[in-house]
Amino acid sequence: MQVFYKKWRSLPALAVALTLAGGLLACGSSRLFTPVATPDPVAPVLAAYVGADTCQACHPEAYAGWRETLHPEAFNGFNDLYSFGLKTNDLFGLWIERFGDTPGNPVCYDKNEDTGISGTKDFSLSDGTKLTDVDGVYVKYEEGKFLARFLNESGTAVHTTDVMVFGHGKTNRQTYVVNVGDGSGNRLLKWHFRKDRANEKNPLGRWIDRNDDRIWQNNCVGCHATGYDIEKWEADSSLTAGEIIADIGVGCESCHGPGSDHIANPLVSNIVNPDDLTKTQQFDVCAQCHTRTTTHKDFDPEYRWGDALGFRPGDKVEDFVETIVPTWGKAWRRVSADGKGRGDHQMTFDLKLGPKADWSCTQCHSLHSVNGEGLMLKESLVDTCVTCHSDYDTPQKISAVMDGTRGWDGDDAGFAGKKNQHTFRLDAEGRVIGLPESEWPAENKWPWQVAETGVNKTDKMFAKSPKTTDDTKVIAKNLKENEGAAGSNK
Ligand code: HEC
Ligand code: HEC
Ligand code: HEC
Ligand code: HEC
Ligand code: HEC
Ligand code: HEC
Repeated sequence: MQVFYKKWRSLPALAVALTLAGGLLACGSSRLFTPVATPDPVAPVLAAYVGADTCQACHPEAYAGWRETLHPEAFNGFNDLYSFGLKTNDLFGLWIERFGDTPGNPVCYDKNEDTGISGTKDFSLSDGTKLTDVDGVYVKYEEGKFLARFLNESGTAVHTTDVMVFGHGKTNRQTYVVNVGDGSGNRLLKWHFRKDRANEKNPLGRWIDRNDDRIWQNNCVGCHATGYDIEKWEADSSLTAGEIIADIGVGCESCHGPGSDHIANPLVSNIVNPDDLTKTQQFDVCAQCHTRTTTHKDFDPEYRWGDALGFRPGDKVEDFVETIVPTWGKAWRRVSADGKGRGDHQMTFDLKLGPKADWSCTQCHSLHSVNGEGLMLKESLVDTCVTCHSDYDTPQKISAVMDGTRGWDGDDAGFAGKKNQHTFRLDAEGRVIGLPESEWPAENKWPWQVAETGVNKTDKMFAKSPKTTDDTKVIAKNLKENEGAAGSNK
């Protein structure tokens, strides 16, 4: 099978060097991750991922608290999918209702096709079965199970197989993926369910037509699962999702680094405690996922984009990914005219635009508990702010200073951001803003990209490892698609 990743080949040598360095450091002190400025602490790179259940026995409290958060929910089996207050059966009911009279939920193969499915196609399934003249693959829920049906042009099924459907999402929306056995892994289903599009006619939420050619293990896994073994997958593409990851969801090791060494010999020196990292490193532990990327620097951009796969606590996110950039004065789908985020997982940019730029996310957020209000905050919502700001003494006032839509005349103005804005910056009229116009950089870059050297990090990166014109084109293409795609980001 074709190998798509580039830098990873040189990783073993680097890992040995780092482990030697780690060993030397460990001799002198009982803790490898002492909070010193230089050299920055590093994650134990040779260890393997073992999964959150392995940590439970010795860290029952951390485990139980983590289960309360949204992180373990990042990836669900269909039976566990959230039901928006409905019984699971009702959700199956919705599925049946939606796809009752149709061939089912189309599996997306081609973003240029209205149906999401390219025309007549010859398929080779991983088990060797050859299927010709397949016009589309549809997944339907029938009599207690999901079936993938390969239809020809006249709508006759030429092949049918049992499949497992699972998905992401707990609070607002849910996307589903399925492996139809053609060797490309888990593909997104075309229709997904959104609660945040509920209205009078559809009080439970709505099915949204989302034509998307992304593949789960190429474009979602780094942020929604833990310990993806890409080499194992590339060696055997018939493996199921559960066989190539350590955790279905954001597991302990996403933030603490791989734990095999630690479980064999539990020491503080062979596992990362983010508390012992520098502020920037702490920030990056969250930014590996709570950011909006364009491409991954180590991969063919045609193959993998979106996540920061390979990142380990202690690393710099910017070494792994390119991110979106703002267009000052002109809003686009992801960023408002003053730089505020308009999408999910863009808090990392927001925070850096305001007075709390040097804070880490963990100063407010809890990862092993939810507060009495069910929020992932260390204190109650009010106590999160009122200790320093006596005037932010009600949840309403706090929501108001974090509401980027407040005070703007709708999206048209290009200044409206999203509801949970993290800039913590207000203008003279009390509106939630990103950067005030007087501070907009001359070029379309984030201020920290300009501030550091006067040269865009992207330029530096390209200078270091020149990309081909083709790569640059693909990056531009991905960016454009990101911009143009309907609905939310996924
Ligand atoms: C066999 C028991 C055991 C297992 C399994 C285990 N740990 Fe630990 N862990 C410990 C002990 C004991 C310590 C404290 C070591 C010390 O203080 O010298 C520790 C320390 C830690 C620390 C550092 C705490 C600090 O004070 O800095 C973290 C983080 C941690 N473990 C995370 C994990 C994670 C994540 C897993 C699963 C991958 C895990 N542990 C599995 C026993 C275990
Ligand atoms: C850069 C990391 C990243 C990538 C890549 C990514 N996601 Fe997410 N996703 C997140 C984060 C973080 C959240 C939580 C967003 C927030 O609240 O800001 C999220 C939220 C979601 C939600 C909504 C969850 C809910 O409870 O409402 C869905 C659904 C989702 N992602 C699906 C996907 C799918 C499908 C893919 C791949 C095609 C994908 N994501 C790729 C980081 C990512
Ligand atoms: C999303 C990131 C994240 C996840 C997931 C996570 N942790 Fe942590 N963990 C942290 C951070 C950050 C700290 C530092 C203390 C803090 O800020 O809460 C920490 C601290 C710890 C500590 C040190 C003692 C303490 O409580 O302060 C232990 C032990 C620990 N985590 C174990 C676990 C285990 C076991 C799991 C999985 C069941 C887990 N963590 C999942 C981020 C995470
Ligand atoms: C491996 C990827 C990953 C890492 C690392 C990660 N997150 Fe998340 N986070 C997610 C995803 C995905 C979701 C959405 C889960 C869902 O709703 O299904 C999420 C959800 C959240 C939420 C809840 C959002 C809501 O809708 O209420 C908070 C708060 C959060 N993360 C904070 C953090 C902080 C702080 C850190 C760093 C210590 C962190 N996360 C590290 C991926 C990650
Ligand atoms: C000054 C405190 C503070 C800091 C720092 C902070 N947050 Fe938050 N965050 C909040 C509050 C308050 C909320 C709203 C309550 C909630 O929904 O959890 C929130 C909400 C969120 C949500 C849920 C968003 C949604 O739309 O429902 C996510 C995800 C999140 N924060 C991630 C982060 C990340 C990632 C960082 C670091 C880049 C960060 N936060 C830094 C206070 C903070
Ligand atoms: C540890 C103290 C501390 C906490 C806790 C804190 N802040 Fe701040 N905040 C500050 C400081 C310091 C400034 C900078 C003040 C300045 O530059 O004038 C600031 C500035 C701000 C500003 C811009 C100035 C203003 O008030 O108009 C906003 C908005 C803000 N914080 C909101 C919040 C919110 C909302 C929370 C809770 C989620 C919060 N802060 C929690 C210390 C804190």
